[in-house]
Amino acid sequence: MKIAVVGTGYVGLVSGACFSDVGIEVTCVDIDQKKIDSLMNGVMPIYEPGLAEIVLRNFKSGRLRFSTDLGEAIQGASVAFIAVGTPPGEDGSADLKYVLAVADEIGRKMTDHIVVATKSTVPVTTGEKVKLAIQNALTKRKSDLTFSVASNPEFLKEGAAVEDFLKPDRIVIGIDDERAEKIMQRLYKPFQLSGERIIYMDIPSAEMTKYAANAMLATKISFMNDIANLCELVGADANMVRKGIGSDPRIGKKFIYPGVGYGGSCFPKDVKAIIKTAKQYGYDLRVLKSVEEVNDDQKHVLANKVKAHFGEDLSGMTFAMWGLSFKPNTDDMREAPAAVIIDELRAAGANVRAYDPVAMKEAEAHYLFDKVTYCKDAYDACLDADALLLVTEWSEFRIPSWDVVGKLLKNKVVFDGRNIYERKYLESMGFVHYGVGVK
Ligand code: UDX
Repeated sequence: MKIAVVGTGYVGLVSGACFSDVGIEVTCVDIDQKKIDSLMNGVMPIYEPGLAEIVLRNFKSGRLRFSTDLGEAIQGASVAFIAVGTPPGEDGSADLKYVLAVADEIGRKMTDHIVVATKSTVPVTTGEKVKLAIQNALTKRKSDLTFSVASNPEFLKEGAAVEDFLKPDRIVIGIDDERAEKIMQRLYKPFQLSGERIIYMDIPSAEMTKYAANAMLATKISFMNDIANLCELVGADANMVRKGIGSDPRIGKKFIYPGVGYGGSCFPKDVKAIIKTAKQYGYDLRVLKSVEEVNDDQKHVLANKVKAHFGEDLSGMTFAMWGLSFKPNTDDMREAPAAVIIDELRAAGANVRAYDPVAMKEAEAHYLFDKVTYCKDAYDACLDADALLLVTEWSEFRIPSWDVVGKLLKNKVVFDGRNIYERKYLESMGFVHYGVGVK
């Protein structure tokens, strides 16, 4: 079986590589020649555990190809996945120009029946728009070729994307014709064999599923952040409350960790986009508007604690920051709480010495520039700093030598944005510990 994956971003590259790894012939297409050249030289555009190995292995075997020629890539392909970006427009709705441009090009260049499946997170009704774009292109060339449209949203977590793809909880496929269902069934057969569930549904429901999943997860986080803030005021411990409620299987243990707010490429964008979609249909998604508001505020919680401890004016002070990426195991800085915290500390007159195991290059090139001093390791960041802020819970920050940290810092104060340290232990070492809603 042969497929094409258009867009070698995060979703496209992981999907293409993983499909090739189960024996499917895959051509990954991108308009960016440089990106394609680097991929052919084994250079990954993103950091994702396990991805480079899988790409190299399948590239060498010839099952995975890279090209800038979409027309050639879809020759003989049963499925073309659209996995290009859907950046938020100024009003928060997902911009479909790249998706529809690909649909149009497929319509202009296809030579046989093909299933065109969207993998990018696209607003409900995009399936219809994709269908129209392909049909228009076919009509222009006076072609009577047939095609199917499908929605196959991706539920990959950054840092665990390869594993999520190869061992999915579920695969959601939106389709509206039998031919497409049969083709998608064949494509996902290797994954079904591992006993996983494939859920078929209509296209709008599949499109909606993706948004609803991310919106529900974002809701859990904002809910818990709200509760943690209240815990602090009433003298309760959010860690205990989390354990207490998480043991109810209807609530679940996962995704109820309070912290400095969610970031990344999905939650902030998708929550905004679904609120916008609802608005277009005259519906007010009140819960999600609050989810967003709580999250925006939560990104300020750590800097507020710094100010509560040291005073509003932080001029001349320096803070060590551990972690910059929006979560561990990724270099992704999109919507990272670290950026908000850094801006706030700087606005109050402070300097920041930052260390992140992977994200510093990305931060310096595109997000933080020279706003912080980039340090060679976690301890180096603490050198003569007034206090330490833990922002991203990378494993290597979990058990530092507090003796060393205590000697490097001017004051033994730790602002723990992810509640990874035990207060009692830190206090026994002479530190003052601030967490998020914990005692
Ligand atoms: C998410 C979804 O999990 C994935 O299914 C979807 O396809 C894309 O969006 P991702 O953005 O990679 O994946 O990150 P995820 O691990 O889900 O974390 C999202 C954010 O929530 C991070 O900023 C994380 O720090 C935060 N988070 C997560 C919390 O603050 N508390 C939690 O309990 C869990």
